[in-house]
Amino acid sequence: MSPLRLPGPPHRVKDPHQLIAESGADLEGHGLKRTMGLFQLVCFGVGAVVGTGIFVGLSDSVAKAGPAVVLSFVLAAITCIFTALSFAELGSAIPVSGSSYSFAYATLGERVAFLVGWCLLLEYGVSVSAVAVGWSQYVNELLSSLFGWQLPAALSAGPGDGGVINLPAVIVVMMAATLLVRGIRESAGATAAMAVLKITVLVMFCAIAFTAFEHGNLTPFAAHGAGGITAGASLAFFSYIGFDAITTAGEEVKNPRRNIPVAIMICIGLVTVLYCAVALAAIGAIGPEAVSDKPAALSLIVNQVTDSTVGGGIIAFGAIVAIASVVLAVMYGQTRILMSMSRDGLIPQVFERVSPRTSTPVANTWIVATVFAVPAAFSSLDVVVHLTTIGTLATMVAVNIAVIVLRRRNPEVTGFFRIPLHPVGPVLGVGFCVYLMYGTGWRTWTQFAVFLAVGAVVYAGYGRSRSRLAGRSAD
Ligand code: ALA
Repeated sequence: MSPLRLPGPPHRVKDPHQLIAESGADLEGHGLKRTMGLFQLVCFGVGAVVGTGIFVGLSDSVAKAGPAVVLSFVLAAITCIFTALSFAELGSAIPVSGSSYSFAYATLGERVAFLVGWCLLLEYGVSVSAVAVGWSQYVNELLSSLFGWQLPAALSAGPGDGGVINLPAVIVVMMAATLLVRGIRESAGATAAMAVLKITVLVMFCAIAFTAFEHGNLTPFAAHGAGGITAGASLAFFSYIGFDAITTAGEEVKNPRRNIPVAIMICIGLVTVLYCAVALAAIGAIGPEAVSDKPAALSLIVNQVTDSTVGGGIIAFGAIVAIASVVLAVMYGQTRILMSMSRDGLIPQVFERVSPRTSTPVANTWIVATVFAVPAAFSSLDVVVHLTTIGTLATMVAVNIAVIVLRRRNPEVTGFFRIPLHPVGPVLGVGFCVYLMYGTGWRTWTQFAVFLAVGAVVYAGYGRSRSRLAGRSAD
């Protein structure tokens, strides 16, 4: 028996040909306009990826790994690259909105697809809450450096972080929803401008910090050993989350079969180089201990190197822009995934309605904003970050398996991009994802298990009986 021989057909698999036809991949799809080209798509990916992870999380990763944090970034990037290749192959073969949810539906069946969609609520929805909390911290940082005044803790942090309600976090979530309901052209334009600005800010940081570079700060290089590098990689992974948002825009991309895989590769390569440069510049300038566990470490380093607060203020402004653009891009992805699930009958129809006036899913967007503003207002950053990480890695495992299944069951469904040396890439992708999941700790695993159990109950109680696929064919 071949090691890749698949068991019997899974429960309610959606025909990939039908999925492509429904989305109108070669035509106009469902009232959404095809407005995004390659540059916009790369900016969209960078907008979804570069944010809290590098501006806030770098200091935590350095605390775990020391100067070897660059290896942690590379390890996290390798994990993402294998999965990105799988996303690219699936995204080019089945260029539809819905990301890993749609891919799972066409390969692993409805039950798994529902649970993947459920996990995407962690990767996208809960992530919106997490990055909004990070945004709030930087708003206070900037207010403090500009005016020497900041919002009281009661109004700028949730109960878990010593406050009552995190108002700035709620405000950024609502601002993102307002932009999204006004249309993808405008939102993509705003995202592109933000992406270019945040890259510029990080390059500026490197240029300043490298002027104070001292080789001695990089030794000992791997002070905390291989364990430190691995722990750093699990944390660093958060700074890569979001690249797959590119595949959620399938119905709004020009020439999606070419542009989606190319944009994913450019996005991961670009941010990896950027993150490693920022980490080396930061540690080289002030040493690993000084970087570790510091809030707004990048601003602090620039202030220290230039002996002024102007540079640090600019970095703080850049962080606010960067994190806001993550909220925007990730919320966009969440609304498109819910749209796909709604079209399939697995969640209520309100999520699939597109406004004829704006060509955007208005009600869907406002529901997402309202629901995920709640954890943004009241939850602690740690909890939402860990849940986002484990949920994302779980969906990536499913995506890698989906490639193997698609090639076996539907070899005729191909796109612009095919992973070379198949199935080495997807198998390694599963391995790396499980390895990083293992590193998130038992507490996160327990929360994740409860979350999945709730998802299974929702599917059994709602989606299973209302599924449009079930209505079309015998179960
Ligand atoms: N990768 C995203 C960030 O770092 C979630 O903010």
